[in-house]
Amino acid sequence: MIEDSFVFSKNFEGEFHTAWQAPSNIALVKYWGKHGQQLPKNPSISFTLSQCVTKTEVRFRPRKANDTAFDFLFDRQEKADFHPKIMQFLDRIYPYLPSLENHHLSIATENSFPHSSGIASSASAMAALALCVVAFEKKHHPQWSKADSLKKASFLSRLGSGSAARSIAGPLMVWGESTAYSNSSDLYAIAPETALHSVFNDYQDSILIVDKGQKKVSSTLGHGLMEGHPFASQRFEQAHQNLNHIKTALATGDLDLFIDTTEAEALSLHAMMMTSNPRFVLMQPQTLAIIHKTVAFRKETHLPICFTLDAGANVHLLYPIAQQQPITDFIQSELFAHCQDGQYISDQLGTGAQKL
Ligand code: DP6
Repeated sequence: MIEDSFVFSKNFEGEFHTAWQAPSNIALVKYWGKHGQQLPKNPSISFTLSQCVTKTEVRFRPRKANDTAFDFLFDRQEKADFHPKIMQFLDRIYPYLPSLENHHLSIATENSFPHSSGIASSASAMAALALCVVAFEKKHHPQWSKADSLKKASFLSRLGSGSAARSIAGPLMVWGESTAYSNSSDLYAIAPETALHSVFNDYQDSILIVDKGQKKVSSTLGHGLMEGHPFASQRFEQAHQNLNHIKTALATGDLDLFIDTTEAEALSLHAMMMTSNPRFVLMQPQTLAIIHKTVAFRKETHLPICFTLDAGANVHLLYPIAQQQPITDFIQSELFAHCQDGQYISDQLGTGAQKL
C-alpha cells in the first residue's frame, strides 16, 4: 500500500521543542464528501492565505507511566473542548509514527484571527500541529528533503482535517486525484508547479463576517450528507470539470472564467447542503445581500470581484490587488453594514507555513 511509505517505524525517544505557523486557506473548487480515512470524494484547489494563521508550539518528552498523551493551551488557557479532536488526530497519526505514542506533547496554540469570527480554524490548527510532529520526526530522519517533510506534513494534516492538507504550502494547493494535475493525490496536497498568472499576485481575500457563531453543521456531518445524495455523482464530476476551468483561469489570467467558476462552486456547495437529507440553509439574509450587491457592483463597474463561501454564512470576496482601493471603498460603504458587528478580515495570498 502506498500509505505504508508514510510509516516511520524507527524507534526513538527524547525531548524536542518546535513551533510552527500554518495558514488558513480558501477553496476555489470545494472538497465536499469523503470516504475511508479522510479521503476526498473529489479534488479541490485552494488559495493559501497569509494573515489568518495558527501558531503552535509543542514540547515533546518521553511519556511516563500514567502520563496523558498531551496537554493543551489555547490562547494560554486550558480548553478541554478541543481535547477529543486532538486525541482523534493523534490516534490517527500514531500508526505513521509509532514512537510518537511514547511521548507526551505539551501543545500551546493561538490564532491570528478572532476566535469568535466564525472562521473555520481546523485547517490551520491541524496543519500547524502536524508540522510540529513532522519536525520531531525529521530530527530522526536526517536524509529527508524539505519536499519530503512538507508531503508528510500534508499527509498527517489530512488525517486531522481534510482541508488542512492544503494549509502547508502556497500560494495554491491541490488535494485529490485528478487528470488536471498529474501528480495530484488523495493522500496529500501538492503545490502545483504550473505558473500562476501575474494578475493573481497578492490576490486579495476580504472575509466578511456575517455570523461569528460556531459552525451550524459540523464538517463530519456535512461530508456525510453526500452519502446517498441524489446529485452526488454529478457534483463530483462537476468538481473535476471546474478544476480544469480554474487551472486554465489561473494560468492565463482569464478573470471572467475565474469568477464564473469560483462563484458556481460556492453556490454548488450550498446547493448540495440545501438538497441533502437532512437539508441545511447556511446562507443568511446578510449573505444574500452581500452576494447581490457584489454581483451588481461588478456589472456596474466591470471590476473583477467575485464571492466564494465555505460551509457557513460568511462571504469571501476575491479580487486583484490592483483594484484594492475602489473595492475597499465599496466594502466599507455598501457591505460593512451587513457584517456582524461590522467585522471583516483583510487577507491575501500567502506562501505557506513557516517555522517560528
Ligand atoms: C466547505 O476540512 O473542515 O470548507 O475533513 O471533516 O475536517 P473535515 O472537513 P473540512 O471540510 C471543509 C469543507 C469546505 C470546503 C473546502 O475547504 O474545500
